[in-house]
Amino acid sequence: MRIPDIAPGGRVLALGHYQPPNIVTNDDLTKTMDTSDEWIQSRVGIQQRRVAGKEESVEDMATIAGGKALAASGLSPDEVDLVIVATCTLESQIPNASAVVAHRLGINSPGAFDVNAACAGFCYALATASAAVRAGSARNVLVIGAEKLSQWVDWTDRSTAVIFADGAGAAVVGPSDTPGIGPVVWGSAGDKSEAISIEDRTSFLYQEGQTVFRWATTALHPVALEACSRAGVDPSELAAFVPHQANLRIIEAIARKLGADKAVVARDIVTAGNTSAASIPLALSRMLERGEVRSGGLALVLGFGAGLTYAGQVIEIP
Ligand code: UT7
Repeated sequence: MRIPDIAPGGRVLALGHYQPPNIVTNDDLTKTMDTSDEWIQSRVGIQQRRVAGKEESVEDMATIAGGKALAASGLSPDEVDLVIVATCTLESQIPNASAVVAHRLGINSPGAFDVNAACAGFCYALATASAAVRAGSARNVLVIGAEKLSQWVDWTDRSTAVIFADGAGAAVVGPSDTPGIGPVVWGSAGDKSEAISIEDRTSFLYQEGQTVFRWATTALHPVALEACSRAGVDPSELAAFVPHQANLRIIEAIARKLGADKAVVARDIVTAGNTSAASIPLALSRMLERGEVRSGGLALVLGFGAGLTYAGQVIEIP
């Protein structure tokens, strides 16, 4: 048996994102449910979110974000041999999104699978992509987080409808002489699996907000610190902290405990809402586009959500 040449490291080569054009403000929501702009902004930090059109699918959004990341990488579709889509909001169980998206992007017969680790899905997929590149199982990997939460939310339930939103973000991962993706720290708390669920195909998303909030603000900063430590990076060296955009209060609580004083903290939730597996690549891609972070800086990404699952790693910003 022979093992192919192994790349010393994997790195994110490029990012891309997509948001549906339809903006829904907090004031819009007050017309159909008992809520207020003041409550949403003070408890969750959201001012507005994007909601996909009826005909716009997870695969549609994933294809646009993935196509942008691919174009930005400068690679041709035939240089990609693995496509991973992280999502938990597909309309149907099969086919998976990744094979459909790959075909639409002209990527010829790649390995293709979806990852469902809910809001942590992108970081799981990124770790898998990096491992595949390093092991010689893939040359370049397209990793996409894409969600249409709007189709799984009860639009009369103010405890969930004000939070969740739609969108997609993508990253191309390729080989590198110097590592640009640090070791992942991942895990789960299955004892709390009931805290976020969609029971069956006739159900809407259910969330015990307080349970998840307590867990997120107490259990995750050690994961963030461990991800830095495994990458040999002191939090003070981070240029950005990009956690899952779940709730601005959670983001700020973890950021405080992380103590990454020089890091720009992603607050994309304010205008993008909580887009589950899409939120991290969406936030980082938008931060790069707006010039809030620079290429070459180190970013800590940290996903967490239903499962309960979590995963985080340090990456070099492309
Ligand atoms: O992305 C996946 C991971 N998910 C998360 O990380 C979410 C974690 N949890 C949270 O972010 C927060 O728990 C929520 C944003 C979901 C809720 O915020 P909270 O500060 O924990 O509020 P609460 O559920 O304790 O509710 C407080 C009050 C209640 O009223 P009473 O019982 O005190 O009279 C709710 O009925 O606020 C009420 N309430 C609302 N009021 C106006 C709940 N939702 C709303 C609303 N507008 N949209």
